[in-house]
Amino acid sequence: MQYRQHKSLEVSEIGVGCYALSGAYGSVNIDHFESMVRHAHEIGINFFDTAEGYGDAERILGRVVKPFREEILIATKVGIRQGTKPNLSKNYIYEACIRSLRQLDTDYIDLYQVHFDDPQTPVSETLEALDSLVSEGKIHAYGVGHLPIERVKEYCELGSPFSILMELSAVSRKSREELLPFCKIHDVAGIGFSATGRGILTGKYGRDTKFESDDIRNLDPLFQHARFESALHIRDQFAILAKDYGVTPVQMAIAWVLTQPNIVCALTGSSKIVHLEENAGASGLTIKRQDLEMLEGFFAKEDTLLAEKNLQVIHSILTTPLSSNPIRVFNDLIYVLETGMDMNLLSEESMHSVFTDLWSLRKKLDESCLSKLANIQERVKYLFQ
Ligand SMILES: NC(=O)c1ccc[n+]([C@@H]2O[C@H](COP(=O)([O-])OP(=O)(O)OC[C@H]3O[C@@H](n4cnc5c(N)ncnc54)[C@H](OP(=O)(O)O)[C@@H]3O)[C@@H](O)[C@H]2O)c1
Repeated sequence: MQYRQHKSLEVSEIGVGCYALSGAYGSVNIDHFESMVRHAHEIGINFFDTAEGYGDAERILGRVVKPFREEILIATKVGIRQGTKPNLSKNYIYEACIRSLRQLDTDYIDLYQVHFDDPQTPVSETLEALDSLVSEGKIHAYGVGHLPIERVKEYCELGSPFSILMELSAVSRKSREELLPFCKIHDVAGIGFSATGRGILTGKYGRDTKFESDDIRNLDPLFQHARFESALHIRDQFAILAKDYGVTPVQMAIAWVLTQPNIVCALTGSSKIVHLEENAGASGLTIKRQDLEMLEGFFAKEDTLLAEKNLQVIHSILTTPLSSNPIRVFNDLIYVLETGMDMNLLSEESMHSVFTDLWSLRKKLDESCLSKLANIQERVKYLFQ
């Protein structure tokens, strides 16, 4: 395993994430997960990421790493728990930190990351809370996560975050334009998550893959319509390149994440030793300059094609009579909104209320929702006019 130094921390190139313990990717065998974490430590991985919002993940991680706590870095996140609204107030952060320390069974958190935005709390208040936790030694550094760009900018300008956490993989490259520049300007480490593209880049998922019913990939736009087809093309391209290097496609794809400027760690979320070992094999792999250039050309063509196809998909979803399957309708509307935002056809502000109303239907998607979904479809159409 190779390491990257940023400020006072030396971080392994491959990090282990605990998101799976929230159930996001279906059921997890906890014994296998714990063995995977122990094995990660044995092969030199020192960066472990979790969150107060990942169900029981902090407690499980804290218990497993207890025997080697001093040899690793624990990154956790604050601001949202399952079923609650984001809260970044001073009091909340303080209480949440004490709770996380207890759950993790540790005296300090190496990296405490702001998880989601709380528009009600000024950034200065959150920074004050984080700074006092640093001076008390409860946390060693803080970072920012899933926040609107302007908020990330504010944190970088008013505070001294160690890191920005961003989704970054060969199938999700937007952070390169939006967030990596902040890392450079403000000397902040980039931590790329979902480096395997939530598994797509492993080559182990295809058009026929059936996820468990509560797996978020059932509604993740990356796994639907034109975006999924494009992700499969990208996966195939990495598979071709991987043959030349004698590695697996996902190792090639993770190594690509590590070539991005200011990235110190590629976070992957395997729950099994065999997958972890494969991912860890990406550390230290150097991609030749001509191959990186070839990939940039490939991405540019793929993006143009995807944009054209996405316009057709959005048009078709918004003009075809609604399906009688509420889950299908829900997933399609999520696709339209997220893709519209990705393509800068919609702003986050303009779609906020319709997205919130749509999302609130998620837990009870049965036939009684169809009229509400029809109404939301009309509102979405209006947004695109
Ligand atoms: N996803 C998010 O929205 C998010 C947001 C903020 C932070 N993070 C942090 O970043 C971490 C990494 O993100 P992620 O969990 O989305 O990572 P990921 O590795 O891109 O996706 C995890 C999924 O990919 C599969 N996978 C990974 N490596 C594999 C391999 N070599 N072969 C076959 N399948 C493989 C895993 O399956 P198995 O379980 O079968 O191994 C799991 O279903 C998270 O755990 C979390 O700590 C994530």
